This record gives sequence, structure tokens and C-alpha cells, in this order.
Amino acid sequence: MKNVVLIGFMGTGKTSVGRLLAARLGCAFHDLDRKIEEKHGMSIPAMFREHGEPYFRAREKDAVREAAGRTNLVIATGGGTVKDAENVAILRQNGILVALTADVDTILQRTSARGARPVLDHADAGDRRAAVVQLLDERRSLYDGADITVDTSGRAPLEVAEHILQAL
Ligand code: S3P
Repeated sequence: MKNVVLIGFMGTGKTSVGRLLAARLGCAFHDLDRKIEEKHGMSIPAMFREHGEPYFRAREKDAVREAAGRTNLVIATGGGTVKDAENVAILRQNGILVALTADVDTILQRTSARGARPVLDHADAGDRRAAVVQLLDERRSLYDGADITVDTSGRAPLEVAEHILQAL
């Protein structure tokens, strides 16, 4: 089986949907952020803090190459993985791209935990919506053009996973 690659903004449910989808397909779930954390023995927020975003993006690219060299995986990418066109090309080679989307309120609700999303955590509470809106505007086109797109707003992860299974 080709890999099933979940892309999408933070808070669109890539990890929770990916886990369920992998269970239903009977294949391994491969979360790029978790793989990076395991390999380097540090959390993503700590990596951003101590080494900066470019260092994280380089580790992310290594993780993409590693994952794309395998098959039969459900891969959850990070929200910024597709900023790098080469990452997209690599993942596409043996993967079906599934974009998950969500509206701003849903994203804000699902990403409300502080300290977990370094690209949003610079904004204080009042500005967080503005930060999400701006980043979504910047990135929206990156999530276009997937093989399958599913709006996850108001939908439980299981419902989204079922929808993807039917579309595959
Ligand atoms: C990022 C999203 C995060 C993680 C890192 C950067 C981004 O993943 O890769 O904090 O640039 O959007 P999630 O989309 O799983 O939160």
C-alpha cells in the first residue's frame, strides 16, 4: 500500500485521525513530530527554543525522507512540513496526500494548550486568533491540491477517519 499522508494546519486532527486510520487500515502510524522527538531526545518546543526553527526544519526534512522511504504507513506531518516543496514532492512519490482543514474557531479551540505550538506561542491570548488567521492565510494554498480534502470542523476524529477510508 502507498503511504497515506495527512497534511494540514495545526489543530486539524492529523494525529488523532491518523492513529484511528492506521488502526482501521491495519498498518503502522508514523507521526513525524513524535519521530523527531524520539530520535533527538527532546520535545519540539524545546528544539525551537534551544536550536531555532531552521534546525527543526532540517530535522523535519530528515524525518520526511526516512518516512517516505517506507510503505504501508499512515504518516501525520506537522503543520509546517508542506512549506518545503521538496518535502511535498518526496511524500507524493509513494503517498496519497490527504489534507485536513478546520475553521479558525475549531483550530483555536484545539490548539489552546500553551507551550505546545511554538509557531503560535509568541502571540499572547488576545493576539492568538490574529496569529492563526495570518498563518492560515499564508499557508492555505499549501494544503490545496491534495488527493483528498476533508473539513474536520465539528467532526469527531472517528467520523473523519471513516470519511477518508471511503474516499481512498
Ligand atoms: C508546526 C506544527 C507542529 C510542529 C511544529 C511546527 C507548524 O505540528 O511540527 O510545532 O509550523 O505548523 P502540528 O501541526 O502537529 O501541531
